[in-house]
Parts: sequence; C-alpha cells; structure tokens
Amino acid sequence: MASSLLNGAENLTFTRGISRKELGFCGSGFSGKQLPQVSLISCTRLAKTNLVTPKCSLSASRPASQPRFIQHKKEAFWFYRFLSIVYDHIINPGHWTEDMRDEALEPADLYDRNMLVVDVGGGTGFTTLGIVKHVDAKNVTILDQSPHQLAKAKEKEPLKECKFIEGDAEDLPFSTDYADRYISAGSIEYWPDPQRGIREAYRVLKLGGKACVIGPVYPTFWLSRFFADVWMLFPKEEEYIGWFQKAGFKDVQLKRIGPKWYRGVRRHGLIMGCSVTGVKPASGDSPLQLGPKAEDVSKPVNPFVFLLRFILGAMAATYYVLVPIYMWLKDQIVPKGRPI
Ligand SMILES: C[S@@+](CC[C@H](N)C(=O)[O-])C[C@H]1O[C@@H](n2cnc3c(N)ncnc32)[C@H](O)[C@@H]1O
Repeated sequence: MASSLLNGAENLTFTRGISRKELGFCGSGFSGKQLPQVSLISCTRLAKTNLVTPKCSLSASRPASQPRFIQHKKEAFWFYRFLSIVYDHIINPGHWTEDMRDEALEPADLYDRNMLVVDVGGGTGFTTLGIVKHVDAKNVTILDQSPHQLAKAKEKEPLKECKFIEGDAEDLPFSTDYADRYISAGSIEYWPDPQRGIREAYRVLKLGGKACVIGPVYPTFWLSRFFADVWMLFPKEEEYIGWFQKAGFKDVQLKRIGPKWYRGVRRHGLIMGCSVTGVKPASGDSPLQLGPKAEDVSKPVNPFVFLLRFILGAMAATYYVLVPIYMWLKDQIVPKGRPI
C-alpha cells in the first residue's frame, strides 16, 4: 500500500525537524526501496532539506478505515469531556511542547498578520497560541467538536478575539475558498475518515492557501504498535502524503518533529510526530469525490460497545502517558551522544 501511495509523489519533500544524527529514524515505516520513487524539490526557506533513509522495514498498520477505540466522534467527545480538565497540564508536557509546536508551525508560513486562519480540532487553544504569535487573533477561527475543550481556549487572554465554532473536521462550516491557512494539530487521530477531513482542508482554502496537519506517527516497537492500533489512528508518514495528494494538494512536504528528550527515537510512535503541509493549486472544491460519511453520529451507539471502547481506549492512553516518562528517564540516565 505504501509504495502505491508514494507513486507519483513528485512534489514531496522531507524537511528536517531534528537532525538526522539525533534521529534513530527507525520508526517511520519507510523502507529504502521506496525512496527512489520520491524526488525532492528544494525548500529554500529551510536551511537544509533532508532525505530520510530509515533502517527499518515496513510493518503493516491497520487500515485507516478500521477505526480504533477512540477513533469515533462520540467516543472522542466523551474522552475530551474529562481530558479537557487536565489536558494542558498533563498531556501536552509529555507530547506537545511549545518548542515542538513552533517548529511544527514553521512550514505553515504564517508570515502575514492579516491572514485568515482556521484551527481545526483547536481544543484548548495550545496550538492557536502559537498561531496568534504571527497572525492577529481576530483573523483566527478555532473549531472543535468539544465544547469542553473550547471553553478552556476561551479562557486564554491572547485568544479572546478569536472566533470559536463547535463543529466537525469532516464537514467544515466554512465556504469554499475561505481561508489562507488551515491548521490542525493532534486531531486527525480521532477522525473516522481522515481522507475526508483533508479533503475539507483543501475545499476551505483559497487558491495558493496552505494546509498544515500535525499528528501522530506509527510505532514499530511491538507493544507500542499494539496500543497504538487499539487506541486511535497513528498514520504512517506515507499515508499522510497520500491523503494530501489525493485531495489535490501540491508541494506536499513532511517535517518530522518530536520531544527533545526522545533524542529522535520514533520506534514507540509519537502523538505529535510530523507536520505535513500542502498548497492548494486551483480555486474551488477538491477533485476528490467521496461517498457518504464513514460514521453517522446521529445513529444510536450500543452503550455497552461504547463503554467497552471507552475503557479500553483509556487503558491504551495510559500506556502513552507512560512512554514519554520512560523516555525522559532514559534520557537522564544514558550519557549524551549515545543512542537510547
Ligand atoms: C489532542 S487535542 C488537540 C488540541 C489542540 N489542537 C492542541 O494542539 O493542543 C484533539 C482535539 O480534536 C478534537 N476533535 C476530535 N475529533 C474531532 C472532529 N471530528 N471534529 C472537530 N474536532 C475534533 C477534540 O475534541 C480535541 O479537542
């Protein structure tokens, strides 16, 4: 599947978030065999453009269309009903730090304070705080399906002038050709149909507008892979690229990111592992035609199935709360410059 997604990836560039020396580059799921199919374009804005040459072979992930426990809208809603209380204090410090955020937003090219920006799955506004450093808050709309997450964002002083909308990433309430930038950080993993969300990103952007999707990457270590597969969507890098290209984006680029104390280790996957960008080359809707939505939220869910998914999903989430702590301890113990 991966190689077929990469076929015709003539506009793909891998840009550097962390130096190759720092990165083990084992967890990306790319095999060397696929790399000749990817030609690079230069990226003048960034000092260096780097081709990834990972050592690991491809491992099969579950298809994106086979949702995990929390890759459902209702489950995600209830997950964040409780998580929103501690999200900024417990979740972000282990997975999504301010320096990672700023590095991930850099390819979004937020160079003009008057740009119209939509932050989809904006949650408590952590990423929006990075956006409003470059763009006037009155030009930024935060959309999320969770009123509880949005309530936290509304409390933040720098976001007071932003617009807040409760809505669905797979069915955005913006007109076609509306925004200069589409940003979505850490939300794609909950979308039952990620291709539809990225198609929406394309639709709402103006001609020449840029989408920037920041999200998880798939692990290669067996236990991490198990928990990732049952919990939520951890796409492979080539899946992101395929979704962008199928939606119609050009100049698709992927930048790897990760917490500093991981020293580039990617075998456990990362909740925030890459920033993928693409440019809309023509005005109007996406050339990609899709059938009906994968998930009908108005349909009643069996309460037993829901509860089971919720509990098992929360168990998997606990594993991923522990991973960054384990990596932090390793970083403290193993001498600097040595692989961990
Ligand atoms: C991990 S949080 C990320 C929040 C924020 N972007 C950040 O960087 O901290 C994921 C957010 O995506 C939202 N979300 C999940 N599925 C969604 C959907 N289908 N439409 C809109 N928001 C969604 C959740 O409610 C949650 O607030």
